Amino acid sequence: MSKKILLEHAHIEGIETFDTYRKNGGYEALEKAIKTMSPEAVVEEAKKSGVRGRGGAGFPMGMKWGFLAKPEGVPRYLVCNADESEPGTFKDHYLMKTIPHLLIEGMIISSFALGANKSFIYVRGELMYVINILQQAIAEAKANGFLGKNILGSGYDLELVVHPGGGAYICGEETALLESLEGKRGNPRNKPPFPAVKGLYQCPTVVNNVESIANMVWIINNGGDAYAAVGVGRSTGTKLISASGHIKNPGVYEIELGLSVEEFMNSDEYCGGIRDGHHLKALVAGGSSVPIIPANLVYKTANGEDRLMSYESLSDGGFATGTMLGSGGFIVFDETACIVRNTWNFSRFYHHESCGQCSPCREGTGWMEKVLHRIEHGHGNMRDIDLLVDVAKKIEGNTICPLGDAAAWPVASAIRHFRDEFEWHVKYPKEATRPGAVYMGEAELV
Ligand SMILES: Cc1cc2nc3c(=O)[nH]c(=O)nc-3n(C[C@H](O)[C@H](O)[C@H](O)COP(=O)(O)O)c2cc1C
Repeated sequence: MSKKILLEHAHIEGIETFDTYRKNGGYEALEKAIKTMSPEAVVEEAKKSGVRGRGGAGFPMGMKWGFLAKPEGVPRYLVCNADESEPGTFKDHYLMKTIPHLLIEGMIISSFALGANKSFIYVRGELMYVINILQQAIAEAKANGFLGKNILGSGYDLELVVHPGGGAYICGEETALLESLEGKRGNPRNKPPFPAVKGLYQCPTVVNNVESIANMVWIINNGGDAYAAVGVGRSTGTKLISASGHIKNPGVYEIELGLSVEEFMNSDEYCGGIRDGHHLKALVAGGSSVPIIPANLVYKTANGEDRLMSYESLSDGGFATGTMLGSGGFIVFDETACIVRNTWNFSRFYHHESCGQCSPCREGTGWMEKVLHRIEHGHGNMRDIDLLVDVAKKIEGNTICPLGDAAAWPVASAIRHFRDEFEWHVKYPKEATRPGAVYMGEAELV
């Protein structure tokens, strides 16, 4: 049984209510932080824990907090990114609806550490019922003296605002999120300045993911060193994984970082293996934005080492043979999946969600979608395959925000590993467009 840091109490009936959460040790970390620690000491524990941002980029949270500017007389803000619109990722949704007080407690501790007196939770707008759950939890925390004015008699005040998202994937990008929170169209900002210097309303701001912030409760209860002892190497702690696709047990799992991919995929405690009678063909390990890898690179790296669920091991081999942990959206494909169709589907999403500010992304995502549509529907030619690689290359690294990279990597990696499948679509358009047609070609199944 893997260590549980976030979901230890998730199975308890009524855990979404203040009383049950409190009976199970809830708000003890907050009491400890506010009554016995200085804000700097809380930041120090975050640094010691080595916890890395769980929104996708994996930037060390304590280090980010250390960058926060503290000019005299200027408010500071903490903004929780709960937009969660990455295809294949649904763990923040699960955490918030199941154990909302964990996020609220984490928000209060983190706001105290950063010296913020007004903090925001920006929740994917489609999740109205989750917004209601969080608002209920906030009201309960306030009624019990854990939120509002003079928290626990400490003199520290905090107002917590839940804000519905603008209904676009781009609003999850931290600076687009800040624009949206200010009531504007969610367009990413040029950086620098980074939010730590000029964020919400041009004031110093920290933006962290739901899971990152929720970790602070355990870190304060047990200490940063104890957190750092969980996991493997620089991938400390646990990670929530949203598992979907052709597996027996799709769902949200908390795993200790460093668990082998093979165990995560095949153990009954987690995914339970590929559905009966089928075989693994490919994996997208960290949400739709990360490179897809073929079955032969899923359990072993190109060097023959066991592939682990960690930032380092999943990206081992770089873009040639690796993928990424990203936001933990673990999407599994068996041999019935058509890689061309899936790549087109992802491209359609990125084209639709591009904010249109940067030409390479605005135009490039459209071209990729169009060319992939052509290939998938039997009208492609061989040059189209190289054209896709070329367009992906020209988007990558040439945009204000990483949505461009997120659109380019799935296309480039699909062609890198499954080129023969694209060629088959071009060579045999009639066969390729037959409903349900899938070409296996050189793909190795496991
Ligand atoms: C297009 C795009 C969408 C993103 N969506 C999310 C999201 O929904 N949730 C999230 O936490 N981070 C998202 N991110 C990453 C954020 O920009 C940012 O890195 C993150 O919120 C920082 O929190 P963390 O350090 O705790 O991971 C997105 C990034 C991009 C480029």
